[in-house]
Amino acid sequence: MCDATGVGLCAEAGTMNCNLMANKVAVFRKEHFNAAHRLFNPLWTNEENDRVFGLCNNPNYHGHNYDLVVKVTGEPDPQTGYVIDLKLLSDIVKEEVMSRFDHKNLNLDTVEFANLNPTAENIAVVIYQLLRPRIDAKLELQIRLYETERNFVEYPA
Ligand code: NI
Repeated sequence: MCDATGVGLCAEAGTMNCNLMANKVAVFRKEHFNAAHRLFNPLWTNEENDRVFGLCNNPNYHGHNYDLVVKVTGEPDPQTGYVIDLKLLSDIVKEEVMSRFDHKNLNLDTVEFANLNPTAENIAVVIYQLLRPRIDAKLELQIRLYETERNFVEYPA
């Protein structure tokens, strides 16, 4: 099944899917948002929360400049050459993520984190869950979230 559109490696694979697998491309959309949060576990004492979360347990909250990288992987559409129209992806990220979280206090202003500790890990999972239904099921989705330049998470891992 590996015709002229396939890459050389496919010639020996000889499977129906070789072109599909070989031609996968990842596209990325980067966004930036600011948000405040406080990390704490309401079931713990102040001392326990201070010990585990340190400065991030500040009762009056603190902010981060989050960098969000949305990765979509799939085979480019034969008609358009796109994996996903990046304008469309940008619009979806703005609607689902930026409008919810940018310039918000995650603990107080959002339903998503009213009862969920807004760690970078949990924020990445929530963002994935918000975006996943909006993106064609045949495309893979991965979220990378930078809480600082040096601290970042990915989901799914
Ligand atoms: Ni923090």
